[in-house]
Amino acid sequence: MLRYSLATQAGASTLAEGLSTPTWGYNGALLGPVLSIPRGRPVHIRVTNALAQSLTTHWHGAIVPGDMDGGPHSPIQPGATLDYRFTLDQPGATLWYHPHTEYRTGAQAYAGLAGMLLVDDGIDRKLGLPHTWGVDDIPVIVQDRRIAASGQLLYMSEAMRDLMGMKGDRFLVNGRERPYVDVPAQRVRLRLLNGSNARSYNFALNDNRPFDVIASDSGLLARPAATRALLLGPGERAEIVVDLAKDQGRALLLQSRSGEVAHRLGSSSDDWDTWDLRTFDVLRLNVTRPTGASASVPKRLADIDALALAGAPVRRITLQGMGKNMKSMGAQVDRGAPPNSGPGGMSLGIAGQSLFSLNHRFFDMSVIDQRARLGSVEIWEFVNDREMAHPMHIHGVAFQVLSRNGSPPPAWERGWKDTVLVRTGETVRVGMRFTQLADAAHPYMYHCHILEHEANGMMGQFTVA
Ligand code: C2O
Ligand code: CU
Ligand code: CU
Repeated sequence: MLRYSLATQAGASTLAEGLSTPTWGYNGALLGPVLSIPRGRPVHIRVTNALAQSLTTHWHGAIVPGDMDGGPHSPIQPGATLDYRFTLDQPGATLWYHPHTEYRTGAQAYAGLAGMLLVDDGIDRKLGLPHTWGVDDIPVIVQDRRIAASGQLLYMSEAMRDLMGMKGDRFLVNGRERPYVDVPAQRVRLRLLNGSNARSYNFALNDNRPFDVIASDSGLLARPAATRALLLGPGERAEIVVDLAKDQGRALLLQSRSGEVAHRLGSSSDDWDTWDLRTFDVLRLNVTRPTGASASVPKRLADIDALALAGAPVRRITLQGMGKNMKSMGAQVDRGAPPNSGPGGMSLGIAGQSLFSLNHRFFDMSVIDQRARLGSVEIWEFVNDREMAHPMHIHGVAFQVLSRNGSPPPAWERGWKDTVLVRTGETVRVGMRFTQLADAAHPYMYHCHILEHEANGMMGQFTVA
């Protein structure tokens, strides 16, 4: 049994040069340690909550039973401890963990509670992919924040606009603004995690060179997919390999070319801020001398088994975001969010409003929306005929993206995933098999990963029996 322990705590961090910001973290002031969990080994993770408000910790992408999933039904009270025990039997992948507290996921993640969780099956080493942590295998957690001149984090400080999704105007990688990393002049693997509450990024390199996508959310692709730009919605991950062999002594910029995708993402200008309409820098790569142990990217990476979907039931899930009349809607029914505040008095905003829905229903902790059978295969169809894009996430499974508006998805989406961006005007079908149990006391969630949508109704629950 491998043991890990995580403790939430409050502290102060330098997110931006010259500012001290009150933040929350796991085992530190901000974010959390990278947990590397070997495939197939039983683990015990003890989570202690040293903060003054209750929270949960969810293992996003981990295929574990409902009672170990850390959803909103498993709160950890202030001062209390919760023991998670599970064995991950799933391919090597870049997952993550974050709170999943009723009404509070967005605020608590924004305050700093999030970390990477790697499933390690050793296949990346066998294939010769870059795998030297911190040298040619780099974690890149991308988040945006709004910060006051005092250093204080601002959350939901522009109330009506931020209800569309909390976006910041400062861009952090691994908790730091204007980030840079020294990397060797060879192939380098970046593990991209869009850990932002609401913003999508269209990742690209400043000289527009192609790079290889080798993994999607839940594991390696069948073969590398070359592209010059990669769109990731909140909650999504991808592993990319960039060839820097000829770049020693130069600097390269990982950017987001957001302006190129804004109009294909959604049609609501209410949802765009200035950053969504332009290109901006995310991470500077300073290319230094090679380490000598240069890695490769083989043509075959993994076998992705096709799901036996003939005759599988199709569940249709329609997405409702705020319409054009949102600004006139005013406050909806507030279902009683707790009054606590965030680090340094950060506002927790308002949550629990009925603003976003799935199948025209608002999240209700006491209602089971879908029931699946253990071992069965299903197709879920997300239908978005509204103005905004919604990154839809399903707990307890990895799925395959079957189609976008009837067409096959791009090459980098033809692997295992747990979150898929459903753009305006799109119908996206995903297929999956349910391999873990979740009862009505600890059901799985499915929801939009724009955390302010999740907190305001855009979530449902399902059991697997
Ligand atoms: Cu990243 Cu329901 O969670
Ligand atoms: Cu999740
Ligand atoms: Cu949404």
